[in-house]
Amino acid sequence: MPLVTSTEMFKKAYDGGYAIGAFNVNNMEIVQGITEACREEHAPVILQVSKGARAYANHTYLVKLVEAAVAECPDIPVVLHLDHGPDFETCKSCIDGGFTSVMIDASGEAFEKNIEITRKVVEYAHDHGVVVEAELGTLAGVEDDVKVSAEDSSYTRPEEVEEFVTKTGCDSLAIAIGTSHGAYKFTAAQCTRNEKGILVPPPLRFDVLEEVSKRLPGFPIVLHGSSSVPQEYVKMINEHGGKMPDAVGIPEEQLRKAATMSVCKINIDSDLRLAMTGTIRQFFDEHPDKFDPREYLKPARANIKELVRHKLVDVLGCSGKA
Ligand code: G3H
Ligand code: 13P
Ligand code: ZN
Repeated sequence: MPLVTSTEMFKKAYDGGYAIGAFNVNNMEIVQGITEACREEHAPVILQVSKGARAYANHTYLVKLVEAAVAECPDIPVVLHLDHGPDFETCKSCIDGGFTSVMIDASGEAFEKNIEITRKVVEYAHDHGVVVEAELGTLAGVEDDVKVSAEDSSYTRPEEVEEFVTKTGCDSLAIAIGTSHGAYKFTAAQCTRNEKGILVPPPLRFDVLEEVSKRLPGFPIVLHGSSSVPQEYVKMINEHGGKMPDAVGIPEEQLRKAATMSVCKINIDSDLRLAMTGTIRQFFDEHPDKFDPREYLKPARANIKELVRHKLVDVLGCSGKA
C-alpha cells in the first residue's frame, strides 16, 4: 500500500489501547532494521525524519529509502513524518516533497505565537492531505542543535490544551510529562539508585496525562523522548572503548502504561543509536583486522531489528495491528 497518514492508525491505537512506534531514520540500515521488524510483526509504523537527518542524508535519499521500504513491506501501513519541524518553510518543503505527516514544533514560543505558527502549518498541510503534530510544553534534553536544560523544561499545562487544539486544528499533540530527549535524560541528582547501583529516574507525570486526556477525549497524544536507554547497550559501548557513564532512559513499564492510555505515538531514536553504536564498537574491538562496512553494518542492522521487535511487542503493544 502507498504511504498513509496517521489518522486511521491513531484511531485504532486509541481504541485498542496501544501506541504506534515512531522511529527516527537516518540511513538505509536503520530503515531496513525498523521495517523488517514491523513487517514480521505485522505492525503499523511511523518513520520520522528530523531536520538533522535531512541535513545529513538529504531529503531525496530519505524519501527514496522509505519508498523502498514501503515496496518491500506492502502489507503494513507506513507514515513518513517530519520530526520537530522548526518552521513553516521546513514543513512546507516536506509536505510538497512526499511526507504524509509533519510536526511543527513551536513549543519554545509563547502560547499565542505557538498557536499562530501551528495554525499556518495546519492550513497548508490539510489543504494537501497531510496531518500535523504540534507540541505544548517543553522537554528537557538535546534535539538537533537545541539543548534544553532540566530547569528550562516545563510540563504541559492541561488547562491550555483545549484552546490550543481548537484554535490550531492540529491532528495530534505532543505533551511534556517528564520524558526527555537523548541518552542522558536525567542527572544523577534527579534519580535514586537501585540495589544494583543503576539510576532510577523520577516517574512520569501520569496525572498530567490523565488531565489532558480528560480535556481532549479521543484525541491522540504523542510522547517524545521515550527511549529507555537499554543498559545492555550502554554496557556494550562502555566495555568496548566508549564512555557513557550514567546514561539513563524512561522505564519501559511506564511507556507501556502510557500506550494503554491516550498516547498513540511514542518516539524512539536514541535507543536505535545505542544499539547501532554498541554493536559496531564491539565488532571493531573483536575484529580489528576487518574494514568492510557491510560486515559491521550487518550485525548493527540485525540488532536494531531485534530492538524494534521488542518495542513493538513488549512496549507499544502494536504487534499484529497492521
Ligand atoms: O528529538 C530529536 C530526535 O532524536 C532527532 O535527533 O536531531 O539528532 O536527528 P537529531
Ligand atoms: P529519544 O531521544 O528518547 O529517543 O527521543 C526521540 C524523539 O523524541 C524524537 O523526536
Ligand atoms: Zn522529539
